[in-house]
Amino acid sequence: MGITYLPEERLFQLDTPHTTYCIGIVDQEGFLGHVYYGRKIDDVRGASALMRIYENPMTPQVNSRDRLSFLDSFPTEYSGHGVGDYRESSVRVRSAAGHSAVLLTYESHEIYRGKEKLEGLPATFGSQEEVTTLAVTCRDKALGLRAVLLYSVFEDTDAIARSVRFYNDGSQPLYLEKAMSACLDLDNRDYDMITLHGSWARERRMDRRRVSHGKHAVSSLRGEPGHQEHPFLALPERTATQDRGDVYGFSLVYSGNFRMQAEMNQFDSVRITAGIEPEDFSWKLAPGESFQAPEVILVYSGEGLGGMSRAYHDLYRKHLIRSPYRNKKRPILINNWEATYFDFDEKKLLDIAREAAGLGIEMLVMDDGWFGNRFDDNRALGDWQVNEEKLKGGLKKLVEGVNALGLEFGIWFEPEMISPESELYREHPDWAIAVPGRTPGLARNQYVLDVSRREVRDCILEQMFAVLHSANIQYVKWDMNRPLSDLGSAELEADRQGELYHRYVLGMYEMQERLLAEFPDLLLENCSGGGARFDPGMLYYSPQIWCSDDTDAIERLAIQEGTALVYPLSAMGAHVSVCPNHAVGRNTPFETRGIVALAGTFGYELDVTGLSPEDREMVRRQTALYHKFNDLVREGDYYRIASYGDNHLYDCFQVVSKDKGESLVFYVQVLGEPNRHSRILRLQGLDATAVYHVYEADMQGQAAGDGPEGMIKDTEKSYSGQLLQNGGMVLERMWGDFRAKLVWLKRQ
Ligand code: GLA
Repeated sequence: MGITYLPEERLFQLDTPHTTYCIGIVDQEGFLGHVYYGRKIDDVRGASALMRIYENPMTPQVNSRDRLSFLDSFPTEYSGHGVGDYRESSVRVRSAAGHSAVLLTYESHEIYRGKEKLEGLPATFGSQEEVTTLAVTCRDKALGLRAVLLYSVFEDTDAIARSVRFYNDGSQPLYLEKAMSACLDLDNRDYDMITLHGSWARERRMDRRRVSHGKHAVSSLRGEPGHQEHPFLALPERTATQDRGDVYGFSLVYSGNFRMQAEMNQFDSVRITAGIEPEDFSWKLAPGESFQAPEVILVYSGEGLGGMSRAYHDLYRKHLIRSPYRNKKRPILINNWEATYFDFDEKKLLDIAREAAGLGIEMLVMDDGWFGNRFDDNRALGDWQVNEEKLKGGLKKLVEGVNALGLEFGIWFEPEMISPESELYREHPDWAIAVPGRTPGLARNQYVLDVSRREVRDCILEQMFAVLHSANIQYVKWDMNRPLSDLGSAELEADRQGELYHRYVLGMYEMQERLLAEFPDLLLENCSGGGARFDPGMLYYSPQIWCSDDTDAIERLAIQEGTALVYPLSAMGAHVSVCPNHAVGRNTPFETRGIVALAGTFGYELDVTGLSPEDREMVRRQTALYHKFNDLVREGDYYRIASYGDNHLYDCFQVVSKDKGESLVFYVQVLGEPNRHSRILRLQGLDATAVYHVYEADMQGQAAGDGPEGMIKDTEKSYSGQLLQNGGMVLERMWGDFRAKLVWLKRQ
C-alpha cells in the first residue's frame, strides 16, 4: 500500500486497502493527467492508455497537436483557466497586469510518510505508519505561480485527502480568485449525484438526481455551509444502492463558503470540482506569500453508498476528530433550552438538575440567556458576564449546587456574534462586519463580529476564559445563529476585502483552537441554529455537533439519515424533547423519541420536573440503555437497511461491532397499516458463519432489574448470520404510528 512512482511510465500509483488512484505526467510539456480511480489494481503498468490522449479530437503528433482540443478533453488533475480547457477551472489568478490565464504543469514531486498539518485549517491526520503523502509541484512560469498538489492516502481507510498550496515566486502581487481543493475527471458511467439540502429545522435531506450535460452545483455564500446546502457530493452509478455499485464521495473539510460541482461535457466525461466558493473570494498573494486551500476527502466505494459512509465514518473517527472524548462515552446531558427558553433562574436549573440526577442524567447544560441582560434574543451578545439577577449567588455557586447533585455542568456561548443592543457594540461598533455607508442587515437581531481581527478574537476569548475558569465547567456549546452578509472589515485594505469570508473562518478556527488549548479536557459541541455548520472542519474541534433544532423523532429520521451518509453517529447531537414537538407539533411516543436519540450522542432537552411517572421511568430505562449500547453505536459500522424517505412507511438501520460480535437494529414504524404481513428486513454486516441470539430493549414491560442488563428482554430466539442477511429478520407489525423497536443481536 502507499504511493509508488513508476518512472518508465511517469505514473503515480496511490493505494488504499481496496482502492487505487493513478496520475500520469504527459509529454515534455508536463500536463498532469488523471488516469484512474476505483477498485484496487495491483499491477497498473500500461494504465496511462486510459487517458486516451492520442485519440481524436487530438492529433497524434506530440509537438504539433491541437492544443485547445487537447486541453478541452484531457482528463486533468487540476484544471487551469483561460488557455483552452473550457470546462470548469480549478484555479483562476489575476496578475498585477490584470490577466487571468493560468496553466499549471508538472515540475517535480516528493513522496513521504506521514502528513503535514495544514496551516490554520482543520485537516485529517495520521502517523508515519498510517499515512503516505505525494506532493506534486506544478508551475505556471508566466505568472511565477507555484502550486503543490497534495495527496495523502491512509493505510487503514479507503480515503484520499487532497489539497493545494499556492506560492507566489514572482516579483509582483498575484490575486487568487479561485482556488479549488480538488478536481477529478471521470468517464461518465451514467452517474447520479447525491447532495444534502435543507432549511432551518430540516437539515441534510438527501437529494438524488441524474448528472446530465452542463454544470450541477451546490454552494454557499453564507460564510458557513448553512442549513440549505452541504459541502458534500456523492457520485453513485445510477444503479448503485446502499450495498451495491460504484460510488465516489467528496467531502470538504471546511466551514465557510463552498462549491461542490459536477459537470458533464461534450464527450460525456464528468468533472468534479470541490473547494471554496469562488464568488466573493479573492486572495492577494504578495511576492513570497502562500495560500493553503482546505482539504477535500475523496472516497471510492465498490460497495454502494453504505461502503462510502463507513469509510467516511472510520476516517473522521480515527483521523479527524481529536477530542479526548472521541472514543469515550459522552455524559448524558440535559439542556434547558426547550425546557425554559430564556425564562430561567438558578432555582429552576437546580430543580431540573435534581430531578435529572435521579434518572441517570449526567450533565446539566445551561443554554442561551445567562449573561448580560439577555432576557430575550434582542440583546447582550458580546457581553459574556454572568447575569446575577438570574443566577443569584453567581455561576460558581450554581455549578457547585449542580455538582453536589452528582451532575457535571456545561454552558452555552455564541462567541462570533454581537447584538446592537450590547455594551460591546456601544464600545466597538466597528467590530461588526459591515460595509461603510450601508446599514448591515440584522438576522435574529444580531450582527456578526469581525473575528478576522485579532483584537476581536482576544476580547471574546478573554471573556470566555474568565467565565470558564470561574467554575467547574466540563462542556461548552458553541453556537452561531446567523449567516454572514454585508461583507466588509474595518481593518482590511481595499484589495484584501475579498479575503474576509475566508479570514473569518480562519479566525473562528483559531478561536476554537485557543479555547481547546486553554481547556484541553473540555467537551466542545458546535452548533449553528441547529445544524447549519455541521461539517468535517468543525469535527476537528468538537467531537459532536448539534444536528438540528428539530428534535421531533420522525423528522430526525431523515435528518440523521442524511447526516450519517457522511458523519459517524458519535458526532450527531440528538436529544429527547417534549410533545407536541416544538418544531413540528407532532406527538410521538416517549419510547420512540428515546430510540431515535440513542442513535446519536444522546441527551434530553425538556423540563424533567414536569414529566409523568411513566415518562420518568422511561428516562431511567433509556439512560441505562445508553450505557449498554453507546460503545457499539459510537464505534460500530453503520448499515442503512431501509429509508422512510424512500418507502414513506418505515425506517431501519443497523450498527455492527467491528468484530461482528453484536449488532443493534434500530427500527421505526412511521405509519401503521391495516391488514399487512409482518415485515422482513434483510440485515447486513454480520458474520455469516455465526449464530446470533436475539434480544430486545424492554421499554414497556416489567424490567428485569436495575442497570443496563435489566432493560433487555430475551426473545429466546437465535438465527444464523446467513439467515438474517439472506432471508431476513421478521418484525411483527406494531399497533399505531410512530412506533419503534431496538433489537440487539449477540453472537453465540
Ligand atoms: C440555536 C441553537 C439552540 C439554542 C438557541 C439559543 O438556535 O440551535 O439549540 O441554543 O440557539 O438561542
